[in-house]
Amino acid sequence: MKLNPTVFNRQAFLTSYWQQRPVVLKQGFDDFVDPVAPEILAGLAMEEGVDARVVQCQQPDAPLGWKVTHGPFSDYEALGESHWTLLVQSVNEWLPDVGELLTAFDFLPEWRVDDVMVSFSCEDGGVGPHLDQYDVFIIQGQGRRRWRVGDREAISSFQPCADLTLIEQEFTAVIDEVLEPGDILYIPAGCPHDGIALEPSLNYSVGFRAPSQAELLLQVGDLALQHDVFTRRYQDPELAADNEHFVVDQAQLQQAKQLLTDALSANTADDLLMRVFSQSKRPLVEPDLPYTAEQVPELLRQQGTVISRAPGARWLQCKTTDSFYSNGERFEMNSKIRAFALALAAIQQEQSASGIAELCDNAACADMFAELLNMGTFAVFLDSD
Ligand code: SIN
Ligand code: CO
Repeated sequence: MKLNPTVFNRQAFLTSYWQQRPVVLKQGFDDFVDPVAPEILAGLAMEEGVDARVVQCQQPDAPLGWKVTHGPFSDYEALGESHWTLLVQSVNEWLPDVGELLTAFDFLPEWRVDDVMVSFSCEDGGVGPHLDQYDVFIIQGQGRRRWRVGDREAISSFQPCADLTLIEQEFTAVIDEVLEPGDILYIPAGCPHDGIALEPSLNYSVGFRAPSQAELLLQVGDLALQHDVFTRRYQDPELAADNEHFVVDQAQLQQAKQLLTDALSANTADDLLMRVFSQSKRPLVEPDLPYTAEQVPELLRQQGTVISRAPGARWLQCKTTDSFYSNGERFEMNSKIRAFALALAAIQQEQSASGIAELCDNAACADMFAELLNMGTFAVFLDSD
């Protein structure tokens, strides 16, 4: 699925809207075809392990008018024909056709991608006025939905019921439009929004995570302990004898902050951040039987072999060190394997192995690919057609 270039100019979008202002891109996808049907989505939400919820808004203006129910669901009969929305997270990891929507946004850094959440709303269905901490492109599939979006502003939130956070006061809408199939609404993190379906609607939310300082510090700290780095300790050789025992002075705080700043400024921090960014959201599925490097050349040359990137798996290159990363592991590069690693990076979903088999022409490449197969980053299968 490709963005319509006459409507969606990437550079103009990045300059004027990305992380700044919401915008509607009418017919951002021309001839949009829903990659999933409501019945399939409803069936997926019946499965164990799928993160799904239904938000009902029987009386949107009454504080108790909201209800959130979590899946897996066994049926939807009791919900009636209006005022509810079924939302399913990470559908890109379950349905490859939905995952393909991500390729349209590959001008944005892949590590920032969180997931594609798909919602089905009945008439008058919506999740209420709220803010998200994520940047999101909401693609309208079948049906029509009215969206109101405001600029970023300080707004307080409340919880009308468990697992639902709404904003307290009315916001001033800078966008108030009815989206039709193929339209795209971009909403930067922190902008209030509210979408109410005018008729049964499918919406695809392509979400981009923006980790907070605390989240990054936690993840980097955790990895530093695992890898036994950032081991320098706090020092205070110049303590004054007249220091009150209960006082922590500015110099001591400064010393501790400097210890942290030095750690985060070191090259090691680049490595740890790359490990963090390369983590997949959920555990990757490892093959039943591990592959050996010896099997790789034959595997890739076999007629009909297809290489697929596991949905949600990341294969990222660090520009400053040239190393590649996947699921927290580093792969050092050299001239023997770089071309093959880059060819693998170009596989967003799946690709015939025949085009890149000849790049895997030495033991180092085979080792790397066997390891990637065993981690579950990539998989190979035979296409019977
Ligand atoms: C939805 O698709 O119903 C919810 C999207 C959102 O507002 O975050
Ligand atoms: Co939202």
